[in-house]
Amino acid sequence: MALTLDGMIGDSSVLAEVFRVLAKVAPTNSTVLVTGESGTGKELLVRALHQNSVRRNNAFIPINCGAIPRELLESELFGHEKGAFTHAIRSRPGRFELADGGAIFLDEIGEMELSLQVKILRALQEKEIERVGGTSIKKIDVRVVAATNLDLEEEVSAGRFREDLFYRLNVIPMHLPPLRDRGADILLLANHFLYGQCTTKDRAQLTLSENAREMLLTYSWPGNVRELENFMERLSILCDGNEILPEDLPEKIFRDIGEKPLTKEVEVQPMRPAGFSWPTLKDMADKTLHLKDFLEAIEGRLIEEALERAGGVKNKAAELVGIKRTTLIEKLKKRNLL
Ligand SMILES: Nc1ncnc2c1ncn2[C@@H]1O[C@H](COP(=O)(O)OP(=O)(O)OP(=O)(O)O)[C@@H](O)[C@H]1O
Ligand SMILES: [Mg+2]
Repeated sequence: MALTLDGMIGDSSVLAEVFRVLAKVAPTNSTVLVTGESGTGKELLVRALHQNSVRRNNAFIPINCGAIPRELLESELFGHEKGAFTHAIRSRPGRFELADGGAIFLDEIGEMELSLQVKILRALQEKEIERVGGTSIKKIDVRVVAATNLDLEEEVSAGRFREDLFYRLNVIPMHLPPLRDRGADILLLANHFLYGQCTTKDRAQLTLSENAREMLLTYSWPGNVRELENFMERLSILCDGNEILPEDLPEKIFRDIGEKPLTKEVEVQPMRPAGFSWPTLKDMADKTLHLKDFLEAIEGRLIEEALERAGGVKNKAAELVGIKRTTLIEKLKKRNLL
């Protein structure tokens, strides 16, 4: 059967691998755990998974576990009986019940509190749920798909995520690589979004100049596809000509790739920053990253540069950044670069 990809664009080898796994996994009832940085398309992938499953004509019920307070989340997930708590004026089914016969999408599962994780584990293992304040148990047939942008293994070691639930969810792990690792997909997506934006705005199609393309390919895309989509929307509004030039691109991109922002009057002549300066809180906020991810992004860039300079020879790259070869390999594996 041909895959329905629900508008998921990309033909990089890393994404092709994701699609290959998707084709195998979608028709099964197995639990899938989708990981990937923010904005990499986890939700899109999960929807495609459902579209390609035998349950496609049944319910697909998403719930963002990070956005709902603990007290409400339990009754959202499992439902409640009348009188279970002060405002429970009538009985209500939870999302697991609504998803019966279909799939439930537990988004941002890493944010869920430990006490609720136990209940999810039980629903997964026993295939039954109990409403809050209820006395009876209900059998359910629900496919569970979860997503997170946290490293759940790390959450497990930090005691914030139950190990048993992690293994139960991680039957089929699917990782969406960050946009910066998808090479030419960046341009494919940029053109796709530009096309859509220009069409809806009824304006002449915008194209990317060679220099602008270069810059988009070099930028680190901390906000991944979502960030690219937003940039293209902005360009479709603000760009005067029909060709996008480097000076049309946001300052953030120049700073990230280590070049000086251009103004329209200045000749196109990228410059390196004058001297070294430590990143500031503002740099971190501009990248919309928290400390850990920010430091990881810096580490990633240094490692990439070292690898490039070492012509891909890991021993040499490890030496350049002053770590052991095995540590470098571990880091590359973690970043899915091996
Ligand atoms: N491969 C792709 N092709 C086309 N559009 C994409 C692709 N990947 C992501 N998008 C778009 O990028 C935006 C972000 O995607 P999505 O919401 O699925 O990301 P996410 O990983 O769930 O993000 P978050 O972790 O912040 O929840 C959406 O508008 C989505 O349609
Ligand atoms: Mg999401």
